[in-house]
Amino acid sequence: MAEYSPFDQDIVHNPFPAYRALRDEAPVYHNEQVGFWALSRYDDVVAAHLDTDVFSSTEGVTIEGIDRGMPFLIVKDPPEHTWHRKIATRMFTPRRIAALEPFVRTTAARLLDQVADADEFDLVEHFSFRLPLDVISELIGIPGSERERIHRLSDRLVARDEGLTVSDDAALASMELAQIFSDLVSDRRRNPGDDVITMLMNTEVEDDNGNVRSLDDNELASRFLELAFAGHETVAKLIPNGVIALSWYPDQRRELVADPGLMANAVEEMLRWDPPSHYQGRWTTRDVEMRGTVIPEGQRVILITASAVHDERKYPDPELFDIHRDIDRHVSFGLGRHLCLGPSLARLETIVAFEELLKRFPDFTFDETGVERAYSSNVRGLAKLPLRIECYGRV
Ligand code: HEM
Repeated sequence: MAEYSPFDQDIVHNPFPAYRALRDEAPVYHNEQVGFWALSRYDDVVAAHLDTDVFSSTEGVTIEGIDRGMPFLIVKDPPEHTWHRKIATRMFTPRRIAALEPFVRTTAARLLDQVADADEFDLVEHFSFRLPLDVISELIGIPGSERERIHRLSDRLVARDEGLTVSDDAALASMELAQIFSDLVSDRRRNPGDDVITMLMNTEVEDDNGNVRSLDDNELASRFLELAFAGHETVAKLIPNGVIALSWYPDQRRELVADPGLMANAVEEMLRWDPPSHYQGRWTTRDVEMRGTVIPEGQRVILITASAVHDERKYPDPELFDIHRDIDRHVSFGLGRHLCLGPSLARLETIVAFEELLKRFPDFTFDETGVERAYSSNVRGLAKLPLRIECYGRV
């Protein structure tokens, strides 16, 4: 019978065989010992994402529940979620995102040019976290001096301890991060400017009852913390996952070098093949029957989107990476009410990252002995990826 525990080290390294077993043998899986249920088939994951009345986010979206009760958009249900999201969405207008493109490109180029003379460099340390962190910081207005600290604290915030307890270090990191953003908002309150913090401070929206709502300074600080975290930890993981795919499938890498027009679809496939967010946690508000099994009220259920996008009932040969795959809809950004706020930004950053990377280093390999996985709760990816760009790989 299928077994799945997110704390099993083999599963941390490669969860896909366990996901397949879940889909085939236990699509409505219950782990009594850790205390959660798991949905793994595409149709079930989609249905649960769309049913926010039954599958609530307020108890946290991780298995550990570290985020329970935090003032984040991602752990709110309607009606609170609706007006908070209306305000946050103001930051992500297509025009604002498109206007960032030159900044994304010059930043990617600058970071890669800095390592161009090395034979090998750590892709995570020198590129994959710095690019999205600089971009989201530019969008939000985080000073350059704070960016590195925010990244180190974000890593500590999601680092996983053994078992379900929240580590003291994660709690400390969370408090330190909260202070940084609270100081930033206070500063902007005293010195308003032409930036998104000031813009959001002055944004008013109507809630479901027609009342006018706006964010107070604490809510604003939490929103920016959430965006700074979600806006860089995810893309920082997607880029190395994509590099691994292109190292394992060199023919497809050569195709991309020859025709960068294929990049947008290649990035969709990277998002499907090994997405940064593997599951989203929920909490049942009442008994719910799925495939003949009743999940009782008040249970933690994880919706494994990374399994959904490998469901052979939806995607033929799901383990194969294929930049030509026709993807009508995948769920790597979630869907429904909590659909990610940053897909266009994440896509832009990843497309530009690979265009600039392949332009300089069309023929990279990586040192498997130096690869390190980040042990984090619901964001999956690498902490280190030594990329070899020997002379033959340069243009
Ligand atoms: C490859 C990159 C990314 C992936 C795979 C990703 C994935 C996700 C997923 C799966 C969710 C749904 C969570 C749930 O239903 O519980 C989500 C929500 C969210 N994401 Fe992303 N994300 C990415 C990049 C970003 C970026 C760049 C930003 C911001 C600039 C961002 C901000 C958010 C926010 C604020 C939410 C919560 C939305 C809500 O609850 O209404 N994400 N993301």
